[in-house]
Amino acid sequence: MGRARRGLLGLALLGGVLLVAGCGSSSKNADDLAKGKQQFTNLCGGCHMLQDAGTKGTTGPNLDDAFGAARDAGFHPNGMKQLVEQWIQMAQPPMPRNLVSGQDAANIAAYIASVAGTSGQSQVRPTPTPPDPQARPVKFHM
Ligand code: HEC
Repeated sequence: MGRARRGLLGLALLGGVLLVAGCGSSSKNADDLAKGKQQFTNLCGGCHMLQDAGTKGTTGPNLDDAFGAARDAGFHPNGMKQLVEQWIQMAQPPMPRNLVSGQDAANIAAYIASVAGTSGQSQVRPTPTPPDPQARPVKFHM
């Protein structure tokens, strides 16, 4: 039975990879945020407090405080995401520059922008779970 299933799993995985490479749908977004949360917890949480992630680092600023004010002032999440991405590249010591880059940096930044200063009401889960069965990205065009 294990053997018969492996073929199907392979196909499902391939479908997922193609989708990620091919287009950005909104279902991908929830996965990205979950990944960003996980990476934030691993890489950034040691220095930064962020309520949604449950991290308690105090070397760097509390990011709920840092972005809560911006959010209250009507700052758009996209703007915050860009700010965080810039910070990751241009960080000042002791925060190391370029801890992450590319898609990982984008995921972390999007995650922070979506939760910082929201007093822990976000829906973002620590591990990627299929958020919405209808959005499940297995589609084959033949
Ligand atoms: C070694 C500890 C350390 C790690 C790891 C770290 N940071 Fe920082 N971070 C800092 C410190 C310290 C500052 C404040 C630097 C300053 O103001 O000059 C900072 C500042 C920031 C700021 C700006 C906050 C503000 O109030 O302006 C953001 C955003 C940020 N970090 C995000 C991140 C992200 C995202 C990660 C993970 C990829 C991360 N940090 C990892 C220590 C760290």
